[in-house]
Amino acid sequence: MPLLISSRFLFFSTIVLLVSIALYRLDTFDPAHLPPDSLVSYTSSIPPLLNDQFLTGAEFIGVGLLNSPEDIAYHQDSGLIYTGCVDGWVKRVSVYDSANDSVIEDWVNTGGRPLGIAFGIHGEVIVADAYKGLLNISGDGKKTELLTEEAEGVRFKLTDAVVVADNGVMYFTDASYKYSLHQFSFDILEGKPNGRLMSFDPTTRVTRVLLRDLYFANGVSMSPDQTHIIFCETPIRRCSKYYINGGRVEVFIDGLPGYPDNIRYDGDGHYWIAMPSRVTTLWKLTMKYPFLRKLTAMVAKYGYEPMIMEDAGVMQVDLDGNPIAYYHDRRHTHVTTGVKIGNYLYCGSLLHSHIMRLDLLKYHAHKKL
Ligand SMILES: *[C@@H]1O[C@H](CO)[C@@H](O)[C@H](O)[C@H]1NC(C)=O
Ligand SMILES: *[C@@H]1O[C@H](CO)[C@@H](O)[C@H](O)[C@H]1NC(C)=O
Repeated sequence: MPLLISSRFLFFSTIVLLVSIALYRLDTFDPAHLPPDSLVSYTSSIPPLLNDQFLTGAEFIGVGLLNSPEDIAYHQDSGLIYTGCVDGWVKRVSVYDSANDSVIEDWVNTGGRPLGIAFGIHGEVIVADAYKGLLNISGDGKKTELLTEEAEGVRFKLTDAVVVADNGVMYFTDASYKYSLHQFSFDILEGKPNGRLMSFDPTTRVTRVLLRDLYFANGVSMSPDQTHIIFCETPIRRCSKYYINGGRVEVFIDGLPGYPDNIRYDGDGHYWIAMPSRVTTLWKLTMKYPFLRKLTAMVAKYGYEPMIMEDAGVMQVDLDGNPIAYYHDRRHTHVTTGVKIGNYLYCGSLLHSHIMRLDLLKYHAHKKL
C-alpha cells in the first residue's frame, strides 16, 4: 500500500511539474536582468536622521472621500491642495488646523486617472493623466484640453508625473510605452527600460523626448535654480539629474532603501522622495532573478497581487542628493508623494482613501543610536 500511494504521488507530481515547465516555456513574458548596481543598497543613502514610526501622530484628511490621491500640489495663493484620485476626479482640499475640519471638493473629472499635478504659469492646472496624456485644466475648471499624448510616433501609455519650469515649459514622464497603469506591475517585473522623460513647450506645442530607455520613469522635480530636472526610476531605486542645457545626466541619489515614486521640492532647500515600499528580502530576490519575476507575472495574470508593499516612507534630501531624514513605518504602505506645507508633511497614496499628514516639528526624525 505505501508503495502504491507514493508511486501515485510521484506520478501526479511529475505531471504537475511537466505542466508547469510547459506553461513556463510557453509563456511569452520575458523579464530582463536589471543593472547589477541597482540591486545593492548603499549605506551612503541612509540618512542620519530617522523616524521609523511615521504613523504615530499622523492625521488623516478626507477619509473615504479621497480615493487613492496619488500626487498632491499645493496652491499657495488659495491655500488649496489639489490631488488626483482613482475615480478620475481632481479634488480640491481646504485644510484647517484640525485635519477633521478639512473640506473636500470634487473639482474636475478628467475621465482618466490623474496622477502628477502641477500649476502652469498662467493659473492653469497641468495633469499627467495615466490614460489620457498631459492635460491642461483652466484655472476656473471649465475647460480641459489635451496638450500631448505621444512623442516620436510612440503614444504614452502611463503618463506619470509633471513639473512646470518658470518659463512655462513642462517636463514630464511616461513610465512605460508598453504597459498601462492597471498593468504597471508587469512593467516592473519585466525589468526593461520602457520609460521616457519629455518636455512640452506651450509656445511651440512641440513634445520633445529628452531621455528614453528609462526604468519606469516616475517622479520629476525642477531644481530651484532651473538648471536641471530630477527624475526617479522606480525599479532601479535611483534618481538622476537631467541638465536642461546640454542634456547631461548625472546620478542624484542611488541605492535608495525603497522604490522611489514622486519627488517634490519644498521651496526650502530640500527634496522629498516618496517610497511606497522598502526593499524587503522578497523584493531583493525577485528583482535579482528574472525567472522569479516571470513566475510572479504568471501568477499575477490570475489576479494575484504581485506587488507586496511594506514599510513605506518619505526621504528628505538636500539639493546635492545627500540624505537628511527618513520618515517611514513598517505598518504603512503605498506612500506615493510627500509634500511639505508649513510644518506638515502631506502624503498621497496609491491605495488608501485619504491624505495623511504629519507634524514634522512634533514628530521629527532623530539621530540614529
Ligand atoms: C478626528 O476624527 C477621528 C475619527 O473620527 C477621531 O478619532 C479623532 O479624535 C478626531 N480628531 C479631532 C482632533 O477631533
Ligand atoms: C491652458 O488653458 C487655458 C484656458 O483655455 C489657457 O489660457 C492656457 O494658456 C493654457 N495653458 C497651456 C500651457 O496651454
